[in-house]
Amino acid sequence: MEIVILDGVDAVDRTAADIVERVVRADPAANPGRSAGSTAVLGLATGSTPVGTYRELARRHREDGLSFARCRAFLLDEYIGLSKTAEQSYFSFIRQNFVDHVDLDDAAVFSPDGDADDIAAEAQRYDAAIAAAGGIDVQILGIGTDGHIGFNEPGSSLRSRTRVKTLTEQTRVDNARFFDSPEDVPHHVLTQGLGTIDEARHLVLIATGESKADAVAAAVEGPLTAFCPASTIQWHPHATVLLDEAAASSLALAEYYRYAYANKPRWQHL
Ligand code: F6R
Repeated sequence: MEIVILDGVDAVDRTAADIVERVVRADPAANPGRSAGSTAVLGLATGSTPVGTYRELARRHREDGLSFARCRAFLLDEYIGLSKTAEQSYFSFIRQNFVDHVDLDDAAVFSPDGDADDIAAEAQRYDAAIAAAGGIDVQILGIGTDGHIGFNEPGSSLRSRTRVKTLTEQTRVDNARFFDSPEDVPHHVLTQGLGTIDEARHLVLIATGESKADAVAAAVEGPLTAFCPASTIQWHPHATVLLDEAAASSLALAEYYRYAYANKPRWQHL
């Protein structure tokens, strides 16, 4: 796990975009398990945190010719009970904030269907679709103030697969800003499990702002525990945590992380 403390949100967005760009531009032949003709499989988080990263990637698409045309993408989660086309659905969110601004084929962007008649079958189908795509190359993650990743709330099984979860009241309050009224925030979601997320080849957790500082500290310096689902990134072989100063403000070893990043060997990328 590599913890990178950066000077401001823009630097966080640019660094996350650098990681995604490198994967997108990588030679497909170097990635076994991938179907012929396709390049990166991206794992996309929704919510406010990655929006700046998506904006930066869209800028690179417009100005630097970064193409997503042969990529596929999978979302982490979706609300149950909202139609796909509802403004607050994550299906809509990712289109408004990323897909509509790049050349990623809309049909190659997948999300769990929170409106499916058979939710359990949909959950299994979603895990199978990720596996059939050859797995996720780079998974962008945000973190909830209660330590969730995806919508794996505290108490989530460390090996869980895509399934239904009940949102904590704290998460519903945090997400109320996207809805007309707090009562409109759904209670249930369909989310990739911690075991599903763990299978992505590279996890990139992004956190900015002081409201995330305690959750970040619990995730990266606390025990590996279902009580803080984001702590599962500690046993991933390739996890990068990108923080601004505010999100890093509760870390005990912040000085060491700054020192290690400042002295990173030039040949070693994130
Ligand atoms: C969204 C997701 C969530 C968010 C988290 C933080 O797809 O998986 O884990 O990343 O709730 O949300 P923001 O970024 O809005 O603070």
